[in-house]
Amino acid sequence: MPATELLNKITDTWYAKATVRSTPRILVPDYSGEQLIYPVARCSICEHPLVSALGPQVRSYILTQAAYQFLYGVGLLETKFVIQCCLDMLHNHIKGINDAAKLQALTVIVDEGYHAHVALDYIIQMKKKSAIEPLEVPQTNRKLDATARAYAALPEDMRMDFQLLAVTIAENVLTDEVANLGRERELAQSFTTLMMDHVRDEGRHSRFFADLMKERWPQLPRETQEHIGLMLPAYLDDFLGADLSRRFERRILAECGLSDAQAERVIDESDPHFSTDQERMKKSILQRIYRLLNQIGVLELDSVKDAFSDRNYVTS
Ligand SMILES: [Fe+2]
Ligand SMILES: [Fe+2]
Repeated sequence: MPATELLNKITDTWYAKATVRSTPRILVPDYSGEQLIYPVARCSICEHPLVSALGPQVRSYILTQAAYQFLYGVGLLETKFVIQCCLDMLHNHIKGINDAAKLQALTVIVDEGYHAHVALDYIIQMKKKSAIEPLEVPQTNRKLDATARAYAALPEDMRMDFQLLAVTIAENVLTDEVANLGRERELAQSFTTLMMDHVRDEGRHSRFFADLMKERWPQLPRETQEHIGLMLPAYLDDFLGADLSRRFERRILAECGLSDAQAERVIDESDPHFSTDQERMKKSILQRIYRLLNQIGVLELDSVKDAFSDRNYVTS
């Protein structure tokens, strides 16, 4: 398909399908302690006998806090990371971005701004309906911190290309995470609608970034390809790392009235469950990222391929 025709098709699709243009406001229904707002399976402390003994209201409190953290986390990635990268494309801080890509970067800015709006609207409604205040309003998270660390360690002239690759990876991971949450059964309908609406846009975003990277990667100097490629395994470990100290869960348990000793027991006894879940999820995400890096061409240099070779997510 000729380039102008393709761009027209992409733009028409955005006008027809972008959720900012076509979906109604999502309303949080009246809160009941029974209705699940976030998956129990992603909150391993919930199922511990010491916690379940406290009743459904406490479970609802813990899940509400987990939902706040998730929604704030997604909003941070959108507003501090993806939008920033798109602005860098628009204003030529990333070299060689043509008008067609700038037009799509603008759709991503609009979409992400809208997603952050939807998430905050949802949080505000949840606070009112549940009368539960978020224990913390995070200003950053693990993924942002890991990216900032990697960015700071790079020579200045490689930072923008790394940023674009990091956003390409993050959008791919986020699409998968949000899609999985949208498929959870038994969750409040409004929460799954929030996830499914979001994923409709994220699928488009992750294709846009992946196509852009496939085109750009072979044009980068070999030195840049090698430098970024070699740091990726450690970066991905950092980016996808879980908080093994489980600080936030400890804080929630204290808020629920558990003594330090009881909280320690809950953390300890839910740890094998927590660690296996984290490991399983991390491995499957890394397999996806590895396939993506392969498609982009990042693994074409032998040295880079070797750097990944002892990783358990590298599949043939
Ligand atoms: Fe988004
Ligand atoms: Fe996105």
